[in-house]
Amino acid sequence: MASRRGSQTVQLPSGQTLTTFTKSSTDDEGLPHATKKTMADHLRKFEALFNLTPQRMRMIVEAFRESLELGLSKNGQIVPMIPTYVFGWPKGDETGNFLAVDLGGTNLRVCLVTLEGKGKFEITQAKYRLSEEQKQEEGQKLFDFCGGCLKAFVDANQETGLIPKGSILPLGFTFSYPCSQDRIDHGVLIRWTKGFGAPNTEGHDVVQMFRKSLTKHSVPAEIVALTCDTTGTLIASHYVNPKTRIACIFGTGCNAAYMEKVKDIPKIAHLGIDPEQEMAINCEWGAFDSFEHENLPRTKYDQIIDESSNKPGEQAFEKLISGRYLGEILRLIICELIDEGVLFLGQNTYKIEIPYSFDTAFLSLMEMDPTEELLMIIGIFNHFFALETTLAERQFFRALAKLVGRRAARLSACGIAAIVSKMGYLEEGCAVGADGSLYNKYPMFPERVHEGLQDIFGEKGKNIVTYRAEDGSGIGSAIVAAMTKARKDAQIYPTL
Ligand code: BGC
Repeated sequence: MASRRGSQTVQLPSGQTLTTFTKSSTDDEGLPHATKKTMADHLRKFEALFNLTPQRMRMIVEAFRESLELGLSKNGQIVPMIPTYVFGWPKGDETGNFLAVDLGGTNLRVCLVTLEGKGKFEITQAKYRLSEEQKQEEGQKLFDFCGGCLKAFVDANQETGLIPKGSILPLGFTFSYPCSQDRIDHGVLIRWTKGFGAPNTEGHDVVQMFRKSLTKHSVPAEIVALTCDTTGTLIASHYVNPKTRIACIFGTGCNAAYMEKVKDIPKIAHLGIDPEQEMAINCEWGAFDSFEHENLPRTKYDQIIDESSNKPGEQAFEKLISGRYLGEILRLIICELIDEGVLFLGQNTYKIEIPYSFDTAFLSLMEMDPTEELLMIIGIFNHFFALETTLAERQFFRALAKLVGRRAARLSACGIAAIVSKMGYLEEGCAVGADGSLYNKYPMFPERVHEGLQDIFGEKGKNIVTYRAEDGSGIGSAIVAAMTKARKDAQIYPTL
């Protein structure tokens, strides 16, 4: 197939330059490739763009902390700081059978969780992959799909005897998108994130929509609590490690939750809750710096991602950090270098020009490649994009992946530091339960977060330790349902 690029540079009406190259059939000297020196020069430019100095990080932490405080004081702020009506930490004596449904960014998961007390549990689960189409179809249809899957799961487990026939099980619904809550079994979707766009859902109570689906499919379950994956992670992690103070998700999306005193949540003062009572806050910190773009170091690639997303201006922090976007950042850089005639002259580049074709998992694999020749990177470019690479180019791609991945981890450290400094956790230290594909699978991500915390706080940064969290959207959601049931049975804030 003829190349769409050539040996001439053409000025397009839009002002962009297009370099074209024609390879003749007698051309057997191999494809033209950038020299090692050219790649090194380019790398220097990107290092300057993606590097975050400790000083810059400290400035971000300050602004972040102010945003968190503003979110606690008033409704409708950029970082929503959502009161979750999860009252304090679990006691560890929560027991019983619970259903948990988790509508995540990539999968739908339905679980049967048996809490056995003393931090012990058992879980049986089924996972269903969500298609890109499902994320955009009518909201009620999406919930009906969840209801249908849950029905099939319950039926199957009634057959095996795990779920007793005739029983109505309490259900924890993990819905990991920002929802404003007036009480624990209610949540109005503020905005879709992570590429979802199902119409007629934003501005609606998602619990009511899901209840409708449960009725439609005659599912013997009662929704007790709506939680977000991060709140669930906070609770599940504390259930097994009581030193936990903060939980974070670094996956397709990103977010954090922590426990706050009610007296420090001025926007719910009118509810008359004991000011000393603790309540989990779902920060929804992916929204930090949205619309204003005053504090985060956005490159032109980040801006392109934002402007061409289905939610321009929103989730500014998340778009620099989360797994949904990191591969796309790298792809945009590669495409720019293709357009400048630096990379892949004479090769057909249409595959890599498809938006979001460069999975963030590729960055992980590139960083992990143990071979001198970088064989893994050869494989990725060859197999997925039909492109040939030289060693110099592969080293460049690997270095780029490192820059993008490292910036994500260092920005994540800024978010954690903002909560630590707001809550005064630095001196005594705290454990941060973390989950999500980036944290669990991206090489060096936790180490880079820790390095970032030390750059921000100096030696004392070592007091803040992240660790692999417990499953928040399954176990955590079940514990929240158990805590809520016990609280309501004891008539403690029964209407919340
Ligand atoms: C959502 C959060 C969620 C996070 C991690 C974000 O896009 O807004 O609710 O906790 O992703 O899944």
